[in-house]
Amino acid sequence: MNTKSKVAVIGLGNIGTAVATNLVKGDRAVIVADRTIEKAKTLSQKLGSLAQPMDIASAIKEADIIVFAVWFSAIKELLHQYATELEGKIIVDPSNPIAPDEKGGFKKIISENESAGEIIAELLPKNARLAKALGTLGVASLANAAFQKPANVLFYATDNASINTEIEELIRDNGFEPVRLGGIDQSIRIEVFGDMHEFGALGKTVTIEEAKEKLSLSEQFIG
Ligand SMILES: NC(=O)c1ccc[n+]([C@@H]2O[C@H](COP(=O)([O-])OP(=O)(O)OC[C@H]3O[C@@H](n4cnc5c(N)ncnc54)[C@H](OP(=O)(O)O)[C@@H]3O)[C@@H](O)[C@H]2O)c1
Repeated sequence: MNTKSKVAVIGLGNIGTAVATNLVKGDRAVIVADRTIEKAKTLSQKLGSLAQPMDIASAIKEADIIVFAVWFSAIKELLHQYATELEGKIIVDPSNPIAPDEKGGFKKIISENESAGEIIAELLPKNARLAKALGTLGVASLANAAFQKPANVLFYATDNASINTEIEELIRDNGFEPVRLGGIDQSIRIEVFGDMHEFGALGKTVTIEEAKEKLSLSEQFIG
């Protein structure tokens, strides 16, 4: 019997598609949903029977873990729109609070010292628990650096140690090794421009050994 928590990925663009694809590769069932059921059905046909298409409300109702693979502003809207359905759920936020700048790059759309994770933590539905996760790599690495030997790391942060097991299982089933950096106040480190983000000071994918070296820690290290 499969005892793993049910996962739904909402938003099937770059990150949502990569996460759903990884999960299926990792032999994990996943519910997929987007603004339209057609988009969810198209992806599920491509991925096979482990990927089940649903509308957003049903996906949230059915799943224990909801991955919001949409832009930061859309996560805020969805948290508001589905506040009742999201009560008690585990919410995964992979978002980066960025937008294109005038020079062909990206700029932060919240203040320098703020993180999307901390802002979203303030908007959580009743009894929902939040993890900042699955957004520490660009989509190319999320897809191509999965299931390697030695495994590459995905960092995560949460204030609820009670969900560590579910989040670590989710990351492993995506083909990566999980490393918890700490509470949601550490989110800024694993968002774009952060010291542990591929598009920040870290600059690349890392294995556990490389992550250990970067973090130069040992006792609080999981792995
Ligand atoms: N791309 C990366 O390399 C990367 C890396 C790390 C983290 N992230 C983060 O991951 C999140 C998703 O990024 P992405 O690159 O995957 O974006 P994307 O390719 O634009 O995909 C977003 C998807 O969400 C859908 N969507 C938008 N609003 C929605 C709503 N209200 N309800 C349901 N679905 C909705 C979009 O549908 P429509 O096409 O109909 O708008 C689209 O399918 C962002 O927060 C981003 O910061 C991205």
